[in-house]
Amino acid sequence: MSSQPGAPATVMVRPLLLKPQWMNGLSERLLVSHYENNYGGAVRRLNAIRARLAALDWARTPVFEINGLKREELIAAGSVILHEIYFDSLGGHGDDPPNGLAEPPDGLARALERDFGSVMGWRAEFTAMAKALAGGSGWAILAWSERLGRLVNQWAADHAHGLAGATLILALDMYEHSYHIDFGAKAAAYVDQVMTNLNWERIDARYRMAIGEKAGNDKLFLPYGSPAQQEARISVEELRAALENGDGRRPVLLDLCLPRDLPRRTDMLAGASMHAPAALPRWVEALSRDRPVVVYCICGFQVSGTAVTELRQRGYDARALGGGITAWHAIGGATVPLDTSTYEDA
Ligand SMILES: [Fe+2]
Repeated sequence: MSSQPGAPATVMVRPLLLKPQWMNGLSERLLVSHYENNYGGAVRRLNAIRARLAALDWARTPVFEINGLKREELIAAGSVILHEIYFDSLGGHGDDPPNGLAEPPDGLARALERDFGSVMGWRAEFTAMAKALAGGSGWAILAWSERLGRLVNQWAADHAHGLAGATLILALDMYEHSYHIDFGAKAAAYVDQVMTNLNWERIDARYRMAIGEKAGNDKLFLPYGSPAQQEARISVEELRAALENGDGRRPVLLDLCLPRDLPRRTDMLAGASMHAPAALPRWVEALSRDRPVVVYCICGFQVSGTAVTELRQRGYDARALGGGITAWHAIGGATVPLDTSTYEDA
């Protein structure tokens, strides 16, 4: 969770790091719906509550209103943070999808053995705790407790339930919205499937940061294939502000999509033109050099990242939209029906 520079009250969405179309037995429809509607909804709700709180006259506001808003702020912030840990903990490596029940890296494996007897012992407790929440809602959490000096499996009945002072390492969403599209009421099957989709590299990085070691690989928490340099990226919140600005520097919007991904698309940003990435040499000459260019794809991975690198090499002020149109949906950004009339044939 981070704040936009110059507008510290705004909590920005984090892009998806997992590739939703390439997961192991968890559908794109489920994951994207969960990300856009439930996670995005929590971010939007948190920002609305924070705006309301910022406008309060604390001396004159009735206590029931303060209690209500502060309670809702805590719940929304908890939901935002827990969902970010959940989504970051899932996914394959680069272009490779998750391929089954993997083992944690050595350091984390030793810590799990120390605190739960074995990795298998930890997994048995963690999954049993998650399955016990079936039919209700809540979170199964692996956290590091400095005070207790160990990793703990923590049960949470809602977004505001947490062991005081503990640092989240892994969170498994047990709200029905996280599985019903794929699994119906079979929550236990969902838990087992999630365990075959864990990205231990990122979970391990969070553990090492929690115990005060430097994790050392910031790229782990950047969408795969997105440009490494900050100036080649733009957040969905920054784009929204730039589009609302209405001056002559309004960015040119390019919607890039691989031919095989066209069936995954239904909408686009208003004013964008849609192109095939492979046809870049054909459409690039028509681009204005007077205005910044924002390139987006579905989730902000290498399709927009590669094009932005090429455009920048050609001297354009091009940026890749972090999280793509999926993150745009998550902030409640408006779209129009997909228009493929400018899309190039192979
Ligand atoms: Fe959720």
